[in-house]
Amino acid sequence: MRFFIDTANLNEIKEAYELGVLDGVTTNPSLMAKEGIAGKDKVFSHYKAICNIVDDNVSAEVIAVDYAGIIKEGEELAEIDPKIVVKVPMIKDGIRAIKYFSEREIRTNCTLIFSAGQALLAAKAGATFVSPFVGRLDDISYDGMKLIEQIRIIFDNYGYPTQILAASIRHTIHLIKCAEIGADVATCPLSVITSLLKHPLTDSGLAKFLADHKSVNI
Ligand code: E4P
Repeated sequence: MRFFIDTANLNEIKEAYELGVLDGVTTNPSLMAKEGIAGKDKVFSHYKAICNIVDDNVSAEVIAVDYAGIIKEGEELAEIDPKIVVKVPMIKDGIRAIKYFSEREIRTNCTLIFSAGQALLAAKAGATFVSPFVGRLDDISYDGMKLIEQIRIIFDNYGYPTQILAASIRHTIHLIKCAEIGADVATCPLSVITSLLKHPLTDSGLAKFLADHKSVNI
């Protein structure tokens, strides 16, 4: 399973990349706003800065919600760098735009997926990735992980090449469950990736090894 980091913060992206386990970045308008990135020029140069850190797969989301606007914005975003994946919302004009982009070999990430039917539609339109939001479904008492299972079964039944990019991942259990089910990618904050490091028996075991070593190497 590939790991993407879900942030627009350059320091966090660098830290995850330096760990050697980062395969891509997902951003959204809320994450860009959190970093105070506003205005087309600043937004585009921020995406370029992200592309300069990582090897591939930088999702950049369109703001337009009409077909012509999504096409124009998506083509401009794709021009920034070959690493850009155009992130398109799961709406009717978004599906039409995904079809248009897929015919022109522009990679897409269909975002705001909350049902298996939405994922199926995006796959049929030729999306490179679908982003089912696990945590936001859990927040409203639906089983977000069940959706990942359903989409995995459907894509495998028909051999859809669309990759499942599990999004809105909030903690390590989400991440491990995604890996068990066979999500192609999981995107999460840096804190979730670094939490994978932690186990109390690792800490106590290392402390004992170092103490025993010191006891005979004074
Ligand atoms: C990723 O593409 C999504 O924008 C993101 O994972 C949403 O996560 P959140 O529900 O924690 O905002």
